[in-house]
Amino acid sequence: MAKDLSYVCSECGAAFSKWSGRCDACGAWNTITEEKPLSAGPASKSLGGKRGQALTLTDLATEEPDPPRTEAGVAELDRVLGGGLVKASALLVGGDPGIGKSTLLLQAAARFARNGLKVIYVSGEESAAQVQMRARRLGLTESPVQLAAETNLRNILTTLEAEKPDLAIIDSIQTMWADNVDSAPGSVSQVRASAHELTTFAKRHGIAVVMVGHVTKEGAIAGPRVVEHMVDTVLYFEGERGHQFRILRAVKNRFGPADEIGVFEMTGKGLAEVKNPSALFLSERGKPAPGSVVFAGIEGTRPMLCEFQALVAPSPTAQPRRSVVGWDGGRLAMILAVLEARCGVTFTGLDVYLNVAGGLRISEPGADLAVAAALVSAREDAALPPDCVIFGEISLSGALRPVVQTENRLKEAQKLGFTSAILPELPKRASAAGLSLRETADLAGFVEQVFGPRQAG
Ligand code: TYD
Ligand code: MG
Repeated sequence: MAKDLSYVCSECGAAFSKWSGRCDACGAWNTITEEKPLSAGPASKSLGGKRGQALTLTDLATEEPDPPRTEAGVAELDRVLGGGLVKASALLVGGDPGIGKSTLLLQAAARFARNGLKVIYVSGEESAAQVQMRARRLGLTESPVQLAAETNLRNILTTLEAEKPDLAIIDSIQTMWADNVDSAPGSVSQVRASAHELTTFAKRHGIAVVMVGHVTKEGAIAGPRVVEHMVDTVLYFEGERGHQFRILRAVKNRFGPADEIGVFEMTGKGLAEVKNPSALFLSERGKPAPGSVVFAGIEGTRPMLCEFQALVAPSPTAQPRRSVVGWDGGRLAMILAVLEARCGVTFTGLDVYLNVAGGLRISEPGADLAVAAALVSAREDAALPPDCVIFGEISLSGALRPVVQTENRLKEAQKLGFTSAILPELPKRASAAGLSLRETADLAGFVEQVFGPRQAG
């Protein structure tokens, strides 16, 4: 007899026959909730016995070289999409509440509508009047976007089928309610069923469907991971509250490069694209201070400069703090350990704070050397030269590894007025872009070169 698997993990979607505090499948705590299984009854029976239809097989050659795309005409958005919106694709846009997802999508809807697409915007969170008010604030009332406030998925699909738009925006997937699934809106099975219906609808009818997804406090899109697997493209809209910068990041894209980012600024009149993010992220930089380092990074296909700030202070507690904003905490622990073991720079009894200025989040290992420099600079209370950029990966042995796109990083630094760079090694045939370079093979050598010789022990 089939077991009644009515307890579902909201993180990974695994189903269990009884409740427990921790999910056995993914290890997450407090994520298991009781739900009616998605397909109770006949569908859970084995497929054996009855024959299905034979599939029509094709070969790999195709007449169409590229999927048809439409550009929004906003470079920051088109780049993240991989060169424009693809017909018959499903996208998920995740982000914290209040970060600006609805604003972004209403502006995008207006752009696509202006470029000739038929666009329908369905809001399940706000009334039509509220969306219209936002449109007025954004100066979009003249745009031919069509609007509905609805949460019933059956009604929405019927409307889309009749209207045949090119693009449908569903804000948000957590508010959708599929009446064939017997659980509350926002529950795992509802989110999963609604996303599945919308994705298959997109493919079958050749419509691009964009779904907005809320993010849990752990940072994942609420509802099971399976939703991310279902769609073609997953974008995250992120930023720090209190900062006006917003970053649209492609974490998955079947039609373009992942890890590509678009930079926007939230203004009183909606989101404005930022054409030169390096200048923006460095514009807040004050006088050269200990702990401040300019990192020449690569985000997606584009070079971008940003500032790492470190603060090191005697800790009042037995367990010193390690606090990171905008970078990986585990990676910070690794850099601290390498500095201690290979260079004799200890952080015992010291609180360490690390921050990326401007609310940017960096995930590149190429930032290791910039972080190490910021940490040592803060600890020694010695500022680095103000016109210098730093990048390079650090291995556990303390050796420095070269990173990708060295030349592009140097060119961007040169463009923004920097005159020197510290890096592992300039690859053969790469040009220094007019910067004076200090190449270093290992971290201990770097620390000695920049901050003077260390006492042994
Ligand atoms: P919203 O798009 O509603 O966020 P989400 O859909 O992700 O929950 O954006 C909400 C915030 O954006 C709100 O705090 C106000 C701010 N905002 C502006 O600063 N300027 C604007 O033009 C608009 C429309 C919103
Ligand atoms: Mg919203």
